[in-house]
Amino acid sequence: MEIYKFAQETILEAGKFIRQRMTEEFNIDSKQNPNDLVTDVDKETEVFLNNRIEERYPDHKIVGEEGHGRDITNTEGVLWIVDPIDGTLNFVHQMENFAISIGIYIDGKPYAGLILDVMKDDLYHAAFEHGAYKNDQLLPDIDESHLQSSLISTNTNWVIRDGIKTPFIEVVRNARSTRSLGSAALEFVNVARGTSSAALFYRLHPWDFAGGAIILNEVGGLTTTLIGDDLRLLDTNSIIAANKTIHGEITKHFIKDELFIQNHKKFHRL
Ligand code: IPD
Ligand code: CA
Ligand code: CA
Repeated sequence: MEIYKFAQETILEAGKFIRQRMTEEFNIDSKQNPNDLVTDVDKETEVFLNNRIEERYPDHKIVGEEGHGRDITNTEGVLWIVDPIDGTLNFVHQMENFAISIGIYIDGKPYAGLILDVMKDDLYHAAFEHGAYKNDQLLPDIDESHLQSSLISTNTNWVIRDGIKTPFIEVVRNARSTRSLGSAALEFVNVARGTSSAALFYRLHPWDFAGGAIILNEVGGLTTTLIGDDLRLLDTNSIIAANKTIHGEITKHFIKDELFIQNHKKFHRL
């Protein structure tokens, strides 16, 4: 549990670093398109985390969203998967509702997940088979729920996208209502806290889901692709994070849609 304890201390320090850094000026650039933003704070926080981890554990591997560990192609050893700021658009536009997310895997198996809601300074964390916590408070197992009486979260971009939208529309129509927070890591947290019953994404990167999947598993939730397959840890995946009952109800809509299946296969190079 030494690595787990160190990870908790380190993510809290990184949160402090971000809150301090936000009081100073920083640059905002775009990456793959004008709405895909990255700031100096994303990059500096990744460096901050890498330096801490490498100093303490020189033999551990680190994959970070802002470029660290791009050459890593296997999951042998201790692997840290880090998103220095998950919810950069919220960081830029709202100055809240963003997180640091860390997933630690040993030989490809879940070891610990940590998500820090930076502005609230609330740390959600879990070690595999040791329960999930909000700060020092144990989170209870989540309730099972049916789609028709549940709040679910998804990004409307997927619901209007030709070629994949049919099952998304069916799911949204059958749910009580939808929400969209804008930080995948915090959407995982909401499912783990039971304030949302399912979170759906057409594409997430490893750093978006690596921490959340471990935390959710500890409260009895399930994370798979939208068609119910296991996640590939070093690749993009479609994702459903949910309680087990609603997970079955939702994935049915995706599995039966031939057009969705074809496009999903192409998009994720399956
Ligand atoms: C993004 C957020 C967002 C999700 C995107 C992610 P970023 O992460 O988690 O909620 O819909 O797919 O890329 O870029 O802010 O770290
Ligand atoms: Ca992210
Ligand atoms: Ca990010």
